[in-house]
Amino acid sequence: MSVTPIKTTPIANQKPGTSGLRKKTRVFQEPHFLENFIQSIWTGIGGAQGKTFVLGGDGRFFNTDAIQIVLRMASANGAARVIVGQNGLLSTPAASHLIRKRKADGGIILSASHNPGGPDGDFGVKYNIANGGPAPESVTSAIHTATEEISAYRTMDTPDVDLSLTGIAQLGRMEVEVVDPVADYAALMEEIFDFDAIADLFKSGFRMRFDAMHAITGPYAKLILENRLGADKGSVVNAIPLPDFGQGHPDPNPIWAKDLVDTMMHVDGPDFGAASDGDGDRNMIMGRGIYVTPSDSLAAMAANATFVPAYKGGLSGVARSMPTSLALDRVADKLGIECHETPTGWKFFGNLLDAGRATLCGEESAGTGSDHVREKDGLWAVLFWLNVLAVRKCSVADLMGEHWQTYGRNYYSRHDYEGIDGGIANDLMQGLRAKLSTLPDTIVAGLRVQAADEFAYDDPIDGSRTEAQGIRIHFHGGARVVFRLSGTGTVGATLRVYLETYATDDLGQDAQEALAPVIQAADKLAMIVERTGRKRPTVIT
Ligand code: G1P
Ligand code: ZN
Repeated sequence: MSVTPIKTTPIANQKPGTSGLRKKTRVFQEPHFLENFIQSIWTGIGGAQGKTFVLGGDGRFFNTDAIQIVLRMASANGAARVIVGQNGLLSTPAASHLIRKRKADGGIILSASHNPGGPDGDFGVKYNIANGGPAPESVTSAIHTATEEISAYRTMDTPDVDLSLTGIAQLGRMEVEVVDPVADYAALMEEIFDFDAIADLFKSGFRMRFDAMHAITGPYAKLILENRLGADKGSVVNAIPLPDFGQGHPDPNPIWAKDLVDTMMHVDGPDFGAASDGDGDRNMIMGRGIYVTPSDSLAAMAANATFVPAYKGGLSGVARSMPTSLALDRVADKLGIECHETPTGWKFFGNLLDAGRATLCGEESAGTGSDHVREKDGLWAVLFWLNVLAVRKCSVADLMGEHWQTYGRNYYSRHDYEGIDGGIANDLMQGLRAKLSTLPDTIVAGLRVQAADEFAYDDPIDGSRTEAQGIRIHFHGGARVVFRLSGTGTVGATLRVYLETYATDDLGQDAQEALAPVIQAADKLAMIVERTGRKRPTVIT
C-alpha cells in the first residue's frame, strides 16, 4: 500500500466563501479539483500527521466517492484516525458535536448545505476546527493560499473502505472508525431538553409535521421525534435522504417548503410545523396558521430560554448576524444581557461561544444555535420550540402574539436577486458605498435616513477585524435596509436585500405590505431595477 505523490498545479477559484468551498458538482468531479483542495486543507492547518479528524457529509450526489478520496488522502498524509459517519453520513451539527466529544483535531464536512444536489447541482467542502466550529478566516485564508501554491498531493491506491457497518477498519496505518451518525447527537439532545415534558405534549394529542426535505435530518428526526418522543408515526415526512434531495431544493423557507406551509395554513393543520435543510443546520418554524420568521424565532427563543433545562440559569449573552432583525436586541435589552452583532456566517460566533459571551445565536437565514455545539442546529431549534410549548402550554400563534405585544414587532423580509452579472452586482454595491456619507438626513421614498455605513466587525475576543460585510441604512423610526452580496452562490452573483421595519401597534399586518415604503427606498437607493433589469426579486423570504 504505497503512498503516491501525484503532481498537480493550482486550480483557480478555490477560495472558501461564507461557508466552505462550494461549486457545481461537476467542477468538484474534475481531475484533481477535490484532491487539490483537501491537500490544501492539510497544508493550511499545518499538516495531518498524527491527527484525528471527523468526516461525514449530507449524502448528496458524489458524497460516497468524495468520502473515499478524503479517507485515502488522510491516511497518505499521516492522519492517525478518522471518525466517519456510517455510510459517509453526518449532519453538520452532529459532526460539530462529534469533533467536540471525541476531542478531534478538526473535521471535514461534505455539503453545499441548502443548495440543490445531483450531477447538475452543487457540492461543497467545509473544514471545522477543534472547537467544532467552521474554520475562522485566518485558517480559511491559509487554506486558500495553499491552493494557490500546491504542486502535489498525497494519496494511496487502496480499495474503498466499507462504511456500511459500524466498527474499526484499517486504511494503511490509519484507523477508520465508522460510527452511528445519530446516536451521540440524540444523547446530547436528551441532555439539553425535557424529553418527558415533550413526550407528555405528544401524549395529549399535540400534532406536528417535520419536513426533512429528503435531506440528512430524516433519520435524526425519525429517531428523536417519533421513536423517542412519541410524535405520531408519519409526523416526519420526506424522511429518506436522497442524493438529489428528490430533485428538490432543501432550503427550509416558505418558497421551498411550500407543502409544509400549505399544510400548516389549513384550519385543521397540525399544531406545529418545522423543516430543516440539506445538512441539517437550518430550521423553519411554523404553528397552525403562522410562519415564524427566523429572526422572530431567535428572539422568542431568547425570551423563553429559561423554560428549557439547559438554559434555565439564563443566557450569558446573545449574538446575531448583522442582517438579522433587531428583534433579538429588544429581548437582550430587557434581560440586561449583551447582544453581539457579527458578520454573516456561523464562523463569527465561534469565539463568542467559546469565551462564554453568548449562549444563543442566530441568523435571519434560518440558522439558530447555542453553545451546545459550534454550528447552527436545525433539529435542536425544533426541540427548543417543542420544549417551550410543552411547558408554556400555548400555541405558536399565541406565543408570538404575546411576544409582539411585549417587545413590538420587527416586520422583516429578505429579497434575493439571484444569478445577476458579477460586474453589475459589484457596481451596484460600489454605487451605494460611494454615496453613504451623503445619505444621513436625506429623505428616500418618504423615509428619513438616520445613519448609513458599511459594516466592519472587530472581534472582541481575538481582536481581528473583518471589513466590507454589508451596507446598512437606518431610517428614523426603526426601519432599516441592508445590502450585501452572497458568499455561497455558485452561479453569477446574488444580491441580498434585507428589509425591516418596527411597529408597536397594528401587529397583524402582512410583512410585504408593512415593508412597502422600505422596499421602495431600497430600490431608489441601489437603483436595483435600473441596474439589474430585474423588475422583482427571484426569491422573497
Ligand atoms: C448564506 C446565509 C448565511 C449563512 C450561509 C451558510 O450565506 O445568508 O446567513 O451563514 O448561507 O448557511 P450567503 O449566501 O448570504 O453568503
Ligand atoms: Zn445548511
